[in-house]
Amino acid sequence: MAGRIPRNFIDDLIARTDIVEVINARVPLKRKGKEYMACCPFHNEKTPSFTVSEAKQFYYCFGCHAKGNVIGFLMEYEHLDFVGAVEALAADQHLDVPHEDGGFINKQTEEKQPLYDILKQASELYQQQLKSDARAIDYLKQRGLSGEIARNFKIGYAPDGWDFLLSRLGKTTQGLDHLKKAGLITTSEKGKSYDRFRDRIIFPITDARGRVIGFGGRVLDRGEPKYLNSPENAVFHKGSELYGLYEVKQALRNIERILVVEGYMDVVALAQNDIRYAVASLGTATTTDQIQKVFRSTHEIVFCYDGDNAGRKAAWRALENTLSVIRDGMVARFLFLPEKEDPDTMVRKEGREAFEARVKNATPLSDFLFDSLKSRFDISTREGKAQLASQANALIKKMHNSLFKDLLLEDLSKLVGLSQQQLAEKVATEPARPSPVRHRPRPKRGQQILINKTRIAIALLLQNPQLASHCKVPESFKTAFKKGLPLLHTLQQIIESNPDITAAALLERFRDNEHESVLYTLSMLQTPETENSENMPAVYQDIIDRLYIEDRQEYLEHKLENGEPLSEEEQKEYLELSTR
Ligand code: UTP
Ligand code: MN
Repeated sequence: MAGRIPRNFIDDLIARTDIVEVINARVPLKRKGKEYMACCPFHNEKTPSFTVSEAKQFYYCFGCHAKGNVIGFLMEYEHLDFVGAVEALAADQHLDVPHEDGGFINKQTEEKQPLYDILKQASELYQQQLKSDARAIDYLKQRGLSGEIARNFKIGYAPDGWDFLLSRLGKTTQGLDHLKKAGLITTSEKGKSYDRFRDRIIFPITDARGRVIGFGGRVLDRGEPKYLNSPENAVFHKGSELYGLYEVKQALRNIERILVVEGYMDVVALAQNDIRYAVASLGTATTTDQIQKVFRSTHEIVFCYDGDNAGRKAAWRALENTLSVIRDGMVARFLFLPEKEDPDTMVRKEGREAFEARVKNATPLSDFLFDSLKSRFDISTREGKAQLASQANALIKKMHNSLFKDLLLEDLSKLVGLSQQQLAEKVATEPARPSPVRHRPRPKRGQQILINKTRIAIALLLQNPQLASHCKVPESFKTAFKKGLPLLHTLQQIIESNPDITAAALLERFRDNEHESVLYTLSMLQTPETENSENMPAVYQDIIDRLYIEDRQEYLEHKLENGEPLSEEEQKEYLELSTR
């Protein structure tokens, strides 16, 4: 197990990240006054009650009371565990996540780093090699690629021979070990090691941060297999990577849509024709993981397949996987090319504009869904309708609750002549799949919290952390008798030692704490005291002073009620307090 992630790293991460940006990339937000609003992604609703506060850097739903900071949002929305959410945010900021036991590198990265290093070195050697190999250069030229695009995608060439990498990087036991772990070396049954990629054009596969994690290698002439891919290694997991995604993000600031194609050459040929938003799914069906990754960068995904049977089958798999991840605000469409064409041949034949026109006219997911079902069943018969309804049901059931789901049901209802009520009973979203995330119980809809002085003081402090530097909280609150005062003391202390802490980072320290929920609620609380910005320090100080008195009074009364004698000093204090 890796050690704990240091507190200050998390504070810093939250401070660097803008929750509005993170959420808006997944749930499009509309500005409304000081806040941003949307329909809540965590429950089904038609009027927005999901609020994101830019100033406080957290979200809050007035409907279902879902709430949290940017880490909490990713945990809930993407079903990540805490570390997963921190790592996702860190990756966006190009940061490594430090762990307390391993200095600045955790054990995992310690094991992975040599792999990244050797893969990078191999990639550079292949790239260099391409420059001096006329046959490989000719091949790429003949496929219409410029040197610029080849460089952009770090395309290389693995020369013929058994020991190109072996002789350069595998001389030491350690180097050899890393080459093997990276999957760059194969070992024969007799125990002899040799290079995996020989006489092939090399397409480096990178992760979201641009680090090389594996390769695809294409034969130049005829040969089997046409493409050879790196086996999975500690840093390369086929089902969750997309070829070209890093390049898309590098090329475009605002990614309107992403086109998912099948081949390396398709991505590169499209880029050559200035279509810079294509990624490839690495020779497998597009997984939910990959689709989620795409939706983290854009709102629209267009799957592009050959119009033949195999293409339609692959598209159907993609549709099934999309349904289980799609949410309101996301769009998925399908582009079927004429038989025997792929994006590479197509764009070279007809050029960018014509190809982009096809992309823009791609079939909406709902049309592809119903057209496919209609072609499978005879809906002029009751039996056919029932079969269609049951198949569609099975698919729609997998969806998150959303307006889009409602609309699909409406279409289905029209198509098969069953009422939406009848269908809805069968397609209620199944209970959430077991996930490592423990869902915190949420207060019931409309649940209000009791407002008292302590809570107003906490609300004031949470909403105006700078108050901590103006006012002091008595040391006695730490062990106070009155409920809530120790919490106020703790908050005050955290802020005093981290004057620039944001509300979101402050609340992060209460993750899974018994007070977490009430603290979020108080951060949103509006009372005359929180609304009136004039004299806020004085108001806060006054409440604290009164809380102090109340606490002492309650304590002394409690003592008396329990028949415990008061000391002389306490008696004096009690009298004084009651006459105040
Ligand atoms: P295609 O056979 O459609 O290749 O495979 P392509 O991209 O059109 O290749 P060119 O145009 O002939 O160069 C699509 C994808 O399937 C995977 C690769 O990821 C390829 O890009 N594939 C294909 C393999 O992994 N191995 C193979 O032998 C063939
Ligand atoms: Mn091709």
